[in-house]
Amino acid sequence: LKNYSFKDFKSDYDHHVGQFSQAIIDFPWENETAYALWCAQTFYYVSYSTRLLALSAANCSLEQNSFHRRFIDHLGEEKGHERLSINDLKAIGRTIDSLPELPETAIFYQNQYFWILQRSPLSFFGYVLALEGMAVQAGGNLYQRAVKTYGPKASSFLKVHSEEDISHLETALNQVKEMSGEDLYHIAQNMIQSCLLYTATLAHIVQITKAEESVRLAA
Ligand SMILES: [Fe+2]
Repeated sequence: LKNYSFKDFKSDYDHHVGQFSQAIIDFPWENETAYALWCAQTFYYVSYSTRLLALSAANCSLEQNSFHRRFIDHLGEEKGHERLSINDLKAIGRTIDSLPELPETAIFYQNQYFWILQRSPLSFFGYVLALEGMAVQAGGNLYQRAVKTYGPKASSFLKVHSEEDISHLETALNQVKEMSGEDLYHIAQNMIQSCLLYTATLAHIVQITKAEESVRLAA
């Protein structure tokens, strides 16, 4: 743990974010129920992004000032992003009220309160890197598929996040590069858990769409 280096981190990152990105590319974006449920899950966890960034910023020590400032800068950029998902849902004729929050989605963001408050505010970088890393590796592909299937008005969340997150990822990785030992190890553990939990959410959505499909075929 004390010897955990950026090289170790990079190999964990490549492996887990790579698998996560593959899972999201394999997701049935062209299935409307799957897309609607994904937009809803995105709304549920993104609604907590600004809260989690504020919590991380507030818990940084004076020695962690560069991280404190980065969390605050990032907070400004995330403001209102949950509305994008609501607009995308509206464009395909769906509303959030009819789309439940899945337990995997709840655990995905609820887990961050443990990392930030019980381990270190810096560990929140693991969550950020999992999401931004995946967005950079897979975002463009997803956006094009969503636009083709549902049109640009229903793809605003993917548009914003396949474009913006490329510069975000560079900044985040540069900041992590300076770190080692326990702080970096916590970031890595949180990154791995976040990749697994998000992938579990995708699997649950696929399970729901398959169940719906078999009901339709039986009818
Ligand atoms: Fe965002």
